[in-house]
Amino acid sequence: MSKVAVVSGGASGIGAAISRRLARRGDKVAILDLSSDVLKQYVSTLQNEGFDVRGYQVDVTDRAAVWEAVGSVRKELGPIDIVVTSAGIEEAGYITGQQINVNGGIYM
Ligand SMILES: NC(=O)c1ccc[n+]([C@@H]2O[C@H](COP(=O)([O-])OP(=O)(O)OC[C@H]3O[C@@H](n4cnc5c(N)ncnc54)[C@H](O)[C@@H]3O)[C@@H](O)[C@H]2O)c1
Repeated sequence: MSKVAVVSGGASGIGAAISRRLARRGDKVAILDLSSDVLKQYVSTLQNEGFDVRGYQVDVTDRAAVWEAVGSVRKELGPIDIVVTSAGIEEAGYITGQQINVNGGIYM
């Protein structure tokens, strides 16, 4: 049965691979990412392949923005079944890394 999935950092790397995998098995996938250009391009690629995906430009370190995006996903796709937190950066100072890689996951 089709599920509703949310993937943060879903426009590239590991998150993009997971988004595609979930879409391919028939899930509705909400892709959240900071980079609007990469997000638009990846969402349109998947939509052109016939997958049921939507993009939401959001910074996962902004708790209010995350909640707003999640509210839109619930309204547009329905109750959320799956959450994948893949937004992150490898090279960063301690504070920036913690803010994105740790707090971002918690806000999701
Ligand atoms: N690739 C690996 O082998 C590997 C191994 C161990 C851990 N990791 C970690 O896993 C995470 C994802 O890795 P990846 O290789 O897929 O990286 P990636 O750079 O290819 O993808 C990360 C995505 O997260 C998005 N992003 C970054 N900051 C964001 C923010 N504040 N809000 C929303 N989206 C944001 C980026 O725009 C990008 O699309 C990183 O934290 C990385 O350090 C990766």
